[in-house]
Amino acid sequence: MQSLLERNAILLSIAILITVSIGGLVQIVPLYTIENTIEKVDGMRPYTPLEQAGRNIYIREGCYLCHSQMIRPFRDEAERYGHYSLAAESMYDHPFQWGSKRTGPDLARVGGKYSNEWHTEHLINPRAVVPESVMPGYSFMATTPLDFDNAGEHLKTLRAVGVPYSDEQVAKAIEDLNTQATGDDGDGDVEGLQRRYPKVPLGDFDGNPNQLTEMDALVAYLQMLGTLVDFSSVDAKSIER
Ligand code: HEC
Repeated sequence: MQSLLERNAILLSIAILITVSIGGLVQIVPLYTIENTIEKVDGMRPYTPLEQAGRNIYIREGCYLCHSQMIRPFRDEAERYGHYSLAAESMYDHPFQWGSKRTGPDLARVGGKYSNEWHTEHLINPRAVVPESVMPGYSFMATTPLDFDNAGEHLKTLRAVGVPYSDEQVAKAIEDLNTQATGDDGDGDVEGLQRRYPKVPLGDFDGNPNQLTEMDALVAYLQMLGTLVDFSSVDAKSIER
């Protein structure tokens, strides 16, 4: 049998095809029997308009070329970055930012790790806070006004691809964006914002209350990364299963 296969290219190709498809079927078929590959967790919500604007800047600047947002389920990763990333945590990401290159650290749980001032200073000039850093500076963000006239349209577009933004969230997008960036100091509807987006970080993110800049949006985004899921609920549920 072996010599027959080794001498006959067509037969060998067919045998390879059969072997490979068995491997494929073993991986794929079980997935048809489960309803959902995204585990149910408490706490996930879509991004606020300001966070979403920051996310757009993150994508525009190619931060994903040096940073991943996916903590793999290995002990060394979990000890360095925290609980491994869950599918649910990127279910509202379009496009997702898992990345494939880590010149810098993973950012999936960077939210709350540093202060807003640290982030602003670091983005303006990384070497001011981490002397050996090879990350480029993005000082222009601190002076570039954030362009957010289309915030509502953006949420609508995301809704078209499955992010569950309500009509209210779309209608109040620009208002919510302003309220988040001014926090309690402004005259925005903070309560409404917090109801629409639980756990929303508030405030003037770039340390300059006179202007709403790209830095505000990017820092707002970084500060919420990985902070939403209530892990006590996750671990309890995985034991139930
Ligand atoms: C050329 C690669 C490169 C690019 C592009 C890059 N970074 Fe970094 N980043 C690094 C490196 C290296 C570090 C680690 C040293 C440091 O903290 O500066 C880092 C660190 C960071 C940290 C601190 C993480 C931690 O846990 O200490 C944040 C936050 C960050 N980067 C955000 C960004 C954002 C936002 C962008 C896009 C605007 C970006 N980076 C673009 C290389 C990069």
